[in-house]
Amino acid sequence: MPDLFPLQVTINGQTRRCSVEPRTHLVDFLREDIGLKGSHLGCEHGVCGACTVELNGQIVRGCLTLAVQADGGTVQTIEGLSQSGTVRDLQQAFIARNALQCGFCTSGMLMAAKELIETRPEATRTEVRDWISGNYCRCTGYHAIVDAICDVLRQRKES
Ligand code: FES
Ligand code: FES
Repeated sequence: MPDLFPLQVTINGQTRRCSVEPRTHLVDFLREDIGLKGSHLGCEHGVCGACTVELNGQIVRGCLTLAVQADGGTVQTIEGLSQSGTVRDLQQAFIARNALQCGFCTSGMLMAAKELIETRPEATRTEVRDWISGNYCRCTGYHAIVDAICDVLRQRKES
């Protein structure tokens, strides 16, 4: 049995104390130890973006980040953002634009889109395309996703 590392991390506003194997990736920790299955595992080597979560206020690849790197930090997952209503307008826009089919990529897309909207409220359509180019969607195609994000950029500017 490998040594376990004591971990304290605030996940979606709730402080958790756990023990993990040092090699455990953040997304595996969230899914298997904490039971938050909204972040997905696709490529498992940093390419597809399905595992995107926020660590200390910035999006990271959950499959390239070790759980121990979150020690003492804060993590936000799609579950937390959904419950707080932070991405409600994005979720509604994805539905309105048919920007999801199987939904496998959607939590990562929403995490990435949230950071874009908060950090680059003046982003152009081209910049939106660039920003989400690290998130792969195997079914919907990207036009509808870009449309949905652009809708929310416009709505938030007008509100
Ligand atoms: S599963 Fe992490 S980037 Fe693909
Ligand atoms: S909606 Fe299926 S992978 Fe994007």
